[in-house]
Amino acid sequence: MKTDQLVRTFVDFYLERGHREIIGTTLIPPPGDPVLFTTSGMHPLTANIEGRPHPLGRRLVDVQRCLRTTDLDEVGDDTHLTTFEMLGTWSFGDYDGPQSLRWGYELLVGRLGLDVRRLHATVHPTDLLAPPIWSELGVPVEHTGENWWSNGPTGPCGPDSEIFYWSGDGPPTGTPTTDDRWVEIWNHVTMLYRRGEDGALTPLEQPSVDTGLGLERLVTILQGVQSVHHTDTFLPWRHHVPGLWPLDETDTRVVCDHLRSAIVVIGDGVRPSNTGRGYVLRRLLRRVLTLLWRDKPGRTLADLPDDLLSHTIDHFRLLISPPEVRTVLLDEERRFRDLLIRGRQIVSRRLTRSGPLTDADFRDLHDTHGLPRDLVETLLNP
Ligand code: SER
Repeated sequence: MKTDQLVRTFVDFYLERGHREIIGTTLIPPPGDPVLFTTSGMHPLTANIEGRPHPLGRRLVDVQRCLRTTDLDEVGDDTHLTTFEMLGTWSFGDYDGPQSLRWGYELLVGRLGLDVRRLHATVHPTDLLAPPIWSELGVPVEHTGENWWSNGPTGPCGPDSEIFYWSGDGPPTGTPTTDDRWVEIWNHVTMLYRRGEDGALTPLEQPSVDTGLGLERLVTILQGVQSVHHTDTFLPWRHHVPGLWPLDETDTRVVCDHLRSAIVVIGDGVRPSNTGRGYVLRRLLRRVLTLLWRDKPGRTLADLPDDLLSHTIDHFRLLISPPEVRTVLLDEERRFRDLLIRGRQIVSRRLTRSGPLTDADFRDLHDTHGLPRDLVETLLNP
């Protein structure tokens, strides 16, 4: 099953069950939200979970693009991406957690044909409703204190039930906490409380259900491939990038992931800068360029073919053209190249004059010459 087909199957399944679809999601959070990027499907719906009516009603479904920089160091493994899509469903004070679990099971096993013997659930010890449902459905359950979801230090939160799939070759062994071949695919949260500034929990007037399913992870399973990087979403990237820039497998994955994220971030209106969202974009691109230039400083993003840019633009329905994306990429590449040339001269003069750099040197290089510490470290350890 192709990624787009899975999205349609998921959305249709919930439309048939009285949900309405939210269209036109973006990585940019609503005004007034302190975080830089949307990190989960529920994020833009926080106020609705806390009780504000949603114009589309009490049952919603969508596909939300998300960006998590917290997972940056894990990108390159089989499951983590900086930009990923979350299939989400919500019940605002309508049906309850057990109903959500039943539908989740019906979709995964009944509609998508996952082998129930490869499923495992985890639940929070305070959740007394989920375990009997999982037992009835024949899915083993593990209790963990980790099964508590919140969107940050304050705001809605509650116990969750996570669904894992066995990705190992042989029959399943262990549990999600003892064997990391259990891959989390879907999280069903029952939002019961609001955590206030003082840390205290206040019960929500109407409990809600919020679920988030990692699209690329489920596609990996359904397509029977080794990693998210081998799914149809990444196929054009895998086709072009190794030919353009021969790198080892991990670096290839990082380059494809970061460039794809950069296109989405640019498409959602962000431009490279030294602060906020623009700085995240800048770091993604500079990390790519650092990897590309380590072996061959002449490599350039100008070699990215238009159809690769279009593939990502079309998939995310971005309102930008390949030439516009290319202009931003090349402008940033030029700036970084200039900065490296200038930085190399300044750092080498400083090393000759006063030996290994101290914290004060790093501060001065940043404040006087605009050379951030991570860049100077890259220059010192290419
Ligand atoms: N909020 C939960 C998560 O991000 C479910 O959507 O995992």
